[in-house]
Amino acid sequence: MGRFFVSVQPGHEDALFREIRNFWPQMIDLDGQPTKQPVAEPLKTAGGLQLEVPDHMGYQINFFSKLAGRVLLRLTSFEARYFDQLERNLEKVDLAKVLDLDFLKKQLNVKVEHHKSRLNNEKNILEAVQNVFSKKGIKISAEASQTLYIRIEKDKVTISLDTTGEHLHRRGYSTFRGEAPLRETLAGYMIFKLFETIGSEAAVQIFDPFAGSGTLLFEAMSAHRPNLERDYSWLHFKTAPKLFKSPTWKKNYRGYSTVPAVSGFAVDKDEKSIASIQKNTEDFKRTFQFEKIPLTSELADSANIDLKPFKNADQLLWIVTNPPYGMRLADDGAKKILEKLAEDADGLLVIHPEKWKFSIKNLTQKSTEVFNNQGLKLTLSVFTKNQ
Ligand SMILES: C[S@@+](CC[C@H](N)C(=O)[O-])C[C@H]1O[C@@H](n2cnc3c(N)ncnc32)[C@H](O)[C@@H]1O
Repeated sequence: MGRFFVSVQPGHEDALFREIRNFWPQMIDLDGQPTKQPVAEPLKTAGGLQLEVPDHMGYQINFFSKLAGRVLLRLTSFEARYFDQLERNLEKVDLAKVLDLDFLKKQLNVKVEHHKSRLNNEKNILEAVQNVFSKKGIKISAEASQTLYIRIEKDKVTISLDTTGEHLHRRGYSTFRGEAPLRETLAGYMIFKLFETIGSEAAVQIFDPFAGSGTLLFEAMSAHRPNLERDYSWLHFKTAPKLFKSPTWKKNYRGYSTVPAVSGFAVDKDEKSIASIQKNTEDFKRTFQFEKIPLTSELADSANIDLKPFKNADQLLWIVTNPPYGMRLADDGAKKILEKLAEDADGLLVIHPEKWKFSIKNLTQKSTEVFNNQGLKLTLSVFTKNQ
C-alpha cells in the first residue's frame, strides 16, 4: 500500500474524487485485468486528496486524471523545529529503495515549501538536505529527472517523491498555443462538468465559438481516455511493477475505456489559432491513438455563425467555451454573440467575468461557481434547456 497525494486546483477536490471513482474501474491490477481493488475515502485538504491505495493504483492515476496536477508518493513525515531534527529524520529515508540512484547519476531535484514553521528559510533547509545527501553521495540538482518534495507545515515535515514528471496539464498535444490559452486541467474540469450534466454516455456535438488552439475540444475528445504515451517519473522507479516494463503493457487498457460519442466544431477568427488546431490535431491523434477525430475547424467570426443546421435528433448540441473577457483580450462583443448562439443549443458551459449576466432565450442557469484563474477572478456557469 502507498500513501499518495493528488494535487488539484483548490475548489476541485470533490470533483477530483468523483473523477477518480469514475475511472477507477478502467485501471488495472498486476495481472493486467481491470482492478478488483476498492477505492478508499480520501483525506481532503485544500488543493488535493490523500489516498491510501496499492502502489500500482496510485501510479495509474497519472494516466487517467484530467483534473489532477501531480501525484506524489508520500515517503515519511515527522516533526522538526530544528535542523538537527530535520537531518536526523532525513537520514532514515531510504531513497535507494525506490530510486535507482546510479542511473540518476546520484542527482536529485529537491523542492521545498514551508508554511507557518520554525524552519522557514529555503536556502538553509536545502543546505541541511544537501548535508544529509552528501553522506549518500547524492547531489541536489535542478537538472535531475526525479524530484523530492519537502513540505513543512506548522513544523510537520512531509517528504514525498514525485511520480508525475512534467506537470499533468502537459498532455502532449498542445505544442501550438493561441493567445490566452486555457490550462488543460481547467479545460478538463469543464468537460468533466459537461458530462456530469448530460451523462457520460450522451452523444454530443460540442461547439467552441472562441476556440483558440482548441484545448476544450481536445479535452472533450480525450475524455475518459488514459494518456499512456507520456514519460512519467514512476515508470523509472525501482518499484514500478514488472507489468509496466513489458513491451506490450499498454494493450491491457484497450477495450476497457468507455469513450463518449463526441464530435467537435471549432471557430476562431484568428488564422494562427485555426492553424494551431490543425497542427495540434496530429499530436493529439498520436497521443491518444486515434486514426481520425470528428473535429472540424473554421476560420470565421462567430457573430456570423448559424447553429440551426447543426441541430439533429441524435446528438445534443452544447456550446463549451472560454471567450475573450475584455481583461487580457478585448471582449469583442463575446457575451452578445454567445447569447444569440446559445438560443439554438441544448446547453452552454462558459467561463466569464462575474459581471457578465447572461440572458438566453430557451436556456436557464443550472449552476455557477467563482474561481481564481492565474490572478483573474472568473465565473464558470452552466445553462441548460428550460424544462
Ligand atoms: C481566450 S481565447 C480562447 C482560448 C482557448 N480556450 C484555448 O485554450 O486555446 C479567445 C479566442 O477567441 C477568438 N475570438 C475573439 N472574438 C472572436 C469572434 N468574434 N469570432 C471568433 N473568434 C473570436 C480569439 O481569436 C481567441 O483565439
